[in-house]
Amino acid sequence: MKMLITGGAGFIGSHLAEFYCDKKYEIFILDDLSTGHRSNVEFIDDKHFIKSCITNKSLVEDLIKKEQFDIVIHLAAVVSVVESINNPIRSQKINIDGTLNLLETNRRHNENLKRFIFASSAAVYGNTKSLPKKTDSFIDPESPYAIEKYTGEQYTKIYNNLYKLPTTSLRFFNVYGPRQDPNSPYSGVLSIMKSKFANNETFTFYGDGKQTRDFVYVKDLVQAVSVVINNEESSGEIFNLGTGKQISLINMFEKFEILYKRTIDKKFTTVRSGDIKESYAQIEALKNLGYSPKYSIEEGLEEYINYVGS
Ligand code: NAD
Ligand code: UD1
Repeated sequence: MKMLITGGAGFIGSHLAEFYCDKKYEIFILDDLSTGHRSNVEFIDDKHFIKSCITNKSLVEDLIKKEQFDIVIHLAAVVSVVESINNPIRSQKINIDGTLNLLETNRRHNENLKRFIFASSAAVYGNTKSLPKKTDSFIDPESPYAIEKYTGEQYTKIYNNLYKLPTTSLRFFNVYGPRQDPNSPYSGVLSIMKSKFANNETFTFYGDGKQTRDFVYVKDLVQAVSVVINNEESSGEIFNLGTGKQISLINMFEKFEILYKRTIDKKFTTVRSGDIKESYAQIEALKNLGYSPKYSIEEGLEEYINYVGS
């Protein structure tokens, strides 16, 4: 099976690449290395690694025409909400036009396509109060990033309705695990907490630390993707991808204390504007296809902390 992973040199993409390489899929990665690293996927040779932007139409067309991928997992995106706020035209080009370009090129030039998976985000729900977040919950995007993810998933769905492309969108909740880059203030909070514990530095809570998230370990995400790939009924659908459980940041900090057998300084500052207070996913639809998260928060954190590497 031939698979294209856009954004495959990033945090999530590198885990998917690793999993499917082990399964002897022929993996191609299309990545401009804007936030990803070539070193995340050293097991992919240069012939299968294309360093380019997904908006490069002629390159994408040539690649898809030539390789006739069975599966496309589309992760490449401007992933930073703040960057989308600072530069909405650029993020729109990549997150919407780039996605549409991939869909259209597959429609026109790839009759072999069996599954197209789009990485959407829980950000589409915005700061609405209803819990758990259901795929039919009210949508209230609060950033260009969230609008772009919503648009991307709607295009993905309409390509199934109109042209019968086998497409699925997954609304990722808060994913964590090895290779998540902790180096920006807007990096995933658990990667920052881990780095602060490892380096004995102060961790800053934005707000009182009682905000909750549905933290999903990256290997459970990989399992969910494989469930979608193996199920034809996933075509045309949008699923939440989380664990169905919420935990507060303060509780996460305590779990780090237990695993590190020590503590670090902490301080509390003002809540980030637009920050969501509580979030967790209803995941029944994905469970009905066979998804079952395997990692408790303790198991996921322990594996993450003991991972050798960044
Ligand atoms: P990441 O930054 O580690 O990975 C993104 C990858 O895409 C990087 O390797 C980057 O170099 C590449 N990329 C960015 N723009 C590109 C472009 N124009 N052309 C080609 N490649 C490009 O981030 P991640 O956490 O692995 O996120 C993967 C996907 O999952 C993204 O679409 C993101 O929006 C989505 N997502 C992630 C989370 C999370 O908790 N990490 C939550 C919701 C949604
Ligand atoms: C995250 C994603 C976003 C995705 C959304 C889906 C990242 C970087 N962002 O946003 O792309 O669409 O989930 O649910 O993965 N916090 C602190 N201290 C810190 C850093 C963060 O207290 O040093 C707090 C934040 O204010 C927030 C919580 O931790 O309340 C989680 O923050 P973050 O990891 O950035 O994720 P989301 O904002 O949920």
